[in-house]
Amino acid sequence: MATQAIHPAPSTAVQMPPAYSPEKDDRDIANDAGYGCTSYLLIGISYLLTIIFFPITLCMGIKIVQEYERAVIFRLGRLLPGGAKGPGLFFIVPCIDTYRKVDLRVVSFQVPPQEVLTKDSVTVSVDAVIYYRVKNATIAVTNVENAEQSTKLLAMTTLRNTLGVKTLAEILAGREEMSAHMQSALDEVSETWGVRVERVEIKDVSLPTIMQRSMAAIAEAQREAEAKIVAAKGEQEASMALREAALTMADTPAALQLRYLQTLTSISAERNTTTVVFPFPIDLMSTFANGFANSDGAHKMTIPAQPPTQHL
Ligand SMILES: *[C@@H]1O[C@H](CO)[C@@H](O)[C@H](O)[C@H]1NC(C)=O
Ligand SMILES: *[C@@H]1O[C@H](CO)[C@@H](O)[C@H](O)[C@H]1NC(C)=O
Repeated sequence: MATQAIHPAPSTAVQMPPAYSPEKDDRDIANDAGYGCTSYLLIGISYLLTIIFFPITLCMGIKIVQEYERAVIFRLGRLLPGGAKGPGLFFIVPCIDTYRKVDLRVVSFQVPPQEVLTKDSVTVSVDAVIYYRVKNATIAVTNVENAEQSTKLLAMTTLRNTLGVKTLAEILAGREEMSAHMQSALDEVSETWGVRVERVEIKDVSLPTIMQRSMAAIAEAQREAEAKIVAAKGEQEASMALREAALTMADTPAALQLRYLQTLTSISAERNTTTVVFPFPIDLMSTFANGFANSDGAHKMTIPAQPPTQHL
């Protein structure tokens, strides 16, 4: 125990850079600073010039956005407080203000077919449609370079990621559930871009032809097996019924005789123009013969006069 060598911790020769702190980055630092003296001077001059050249600057400064649009205004590169302007008329100070229009309407985007490898190693081609809209114009302009493009790219990768962890059966059965899952996954990220994903629809899941064929074969085999079981059950029930009938007839030999006559009657009623070959069991005769031999003549039975082969 005491002889165990203790290795000293290696001394840090290279000075490590300061740890990245997610709480405060460049953006936050910039937000703290206000306009400088020069900026205020320029703003003052611009207002003065606007008043001096009033009619001209009025034409230059008045801007209009549509009902569904908002304008995000920057004054000397800084975001104007008070959020996005619009809809309708708003005023910018010439030379120092710039602005960007943002469309707030819902955009539908068809995600191009994505080749996805499912959990059980089947390649399926899936396409979807997403519906999104800009929720906060200010964030959509300041937080991300191109909110629309980013949302579209995210939709493609999310589609792959969502389906990649599912088996083929789950994909085919749970489309609604996957749409909801994808929407929440998309929305979580796009929230930081001021974009809201309203709806995701998985349009089509297409299987490779070879897979379709084998799945069809499986379904067919299953149906066939079910059909055989049903047929066998029918046979079983029928044989039980026949057995009961046979037992009943065995109790009273006269019943068999009557049944035979009944059959003949039904044949003659249905097909009176065709020749019918009706097998007549010899055993039956012997039964009758025994019956007559045993009987004391109290109830005589008549053996049918017709031969086994009838021409009716
Ligand atoms: C949009 O985001 C900005 C910055 O976070 C916020 O000041 C503003 O109130 C938001 N606008 C709406 C309509 O929520
Ligand atoms: C055969 O049957 C038909 C109808 O079932 C009947 O009209 C006809 O008279 C019958 N023929 C004989 C020879 O009994």
